[in-house]
Amino acid sequence: MASAVLAPGRVAVVTGAGSGIGAALARALAHREMRVVLADIDTSRIDSLAQELDAAGLRAIAVAVDVSDRSSVEKLAHTVRKHWGPTNLLVNNAGIETTGCLWEIPSERWNATIGVNLTGVYHGIQAFVPAMISDKEPAHVVNLASVGGLTTGPFQAPYIITKHGVLVLTECLWQEFAAQNIDIGVSAVLPGPVSTEIFADALSADASGDGATHLQQMRQLLATHGMSPKVVAELVLAGVEAGDLWIHTHPEMSDAAIRARTSSLLSREPYSALEQSEGIADANS
Ligand SMILES: NC(=O)c1ccc[n+]([C@@H]2O[C@H](COP(=O)([O-])OP(=O)(O)OC[C@H]3O[C@@H](n4cnc5c(N)ncnc54)[C@H](O)[C@@H]3O)[C@@H](O)[C@H]2O)c1
Repeated sequence: MASAVLAPGRVAVVTGAGSGIGAALARALAHREMRVVLADIDTSRIDSLAQELDAAGLRAIAVAVDVSDRSSVEKLAHTVRKHWGPTNLLVNNAGIETTGCLWEIPSERWNATIGVNLTGVYHGIQAFVPAMISDKEPAHVVNLASVGGLTTGPFQAPYIITKHGVLVLTECLWQEFAAQNIDIGVSAVLPGPVSTEIFADALSADASGDGATHLQQMRQLLATHGMSPKVVAELVLAGVEAGDLWIHTHPEMSDAAIRARTSSLLSREPYSALEQSEGIADANS
């Protein structure tokens, strides 16, 4: 079933398609001759990507969406259905970064991070999965988690919390489909550092300065050690074809994060994520 999802003519919806991983996925799907819906809050980004794909003779439409707004995602689902019929692949990819200490991050930014990164995925499932079930077409849901969903660390708490949430949500979705014999594929993508704009667009909220420093360090890490979004896109499509529940872009980094956290929990000994992330930077250099 999984590979049939990526066949020419099938319909793929990618949120956050205007930049980074979403744009690379959209390009890769369009080059597989799928019909691709570019959904993003930044319409200038998706309009220019739609023009690029159109000029290459590929099929893509740009649709404005704010994934944190339930009615906006419902409208997206309605538009896709009207335009192209059933959706075969839903990629809940839109995400934002926030840095700073938990006691300094304003509630608007907390709510925005949870709203886009976690509630946005829930909105995508609510708007698209019921029709996927009743359409009985080949279908697959991909949610963007992160290696950050396997670990903990300072100065990025709202983001890390959402990525733990997306990973758990995706595994719960897999459990629900399995329990009800629903033949829809499910994958959580757990990227390590990828060279995208996510930290350029991020907001640092702090008085201490640690959040701003962390943001600059992460931006630098992505620029110097980040994987190309194009490579990530190919790994995601290979994972979808294989029907993988977990798609790791940096498997050694994921394993190190899983080991560090589980051994810490089992031994009742806290661990420093900063030391671990220094190891991550070393492993990538
Ligand atoms: N870049 C990395 O190193 C990395 C690592 C792990 C996970 N991820 C995850 O991958 C996904 C894509 O990130 P990226 O690095 O490509 O980021 P990016 O900033 O390059 O692209 C994100 C896109 O999402 C869009 N977006 C933001 N808010 C939105 C909203 N409310 N509704 C719709 N679209 C919205 C932005 O306009 C942007 O085009 C995110 O979920 C991110 O958390 C990225």
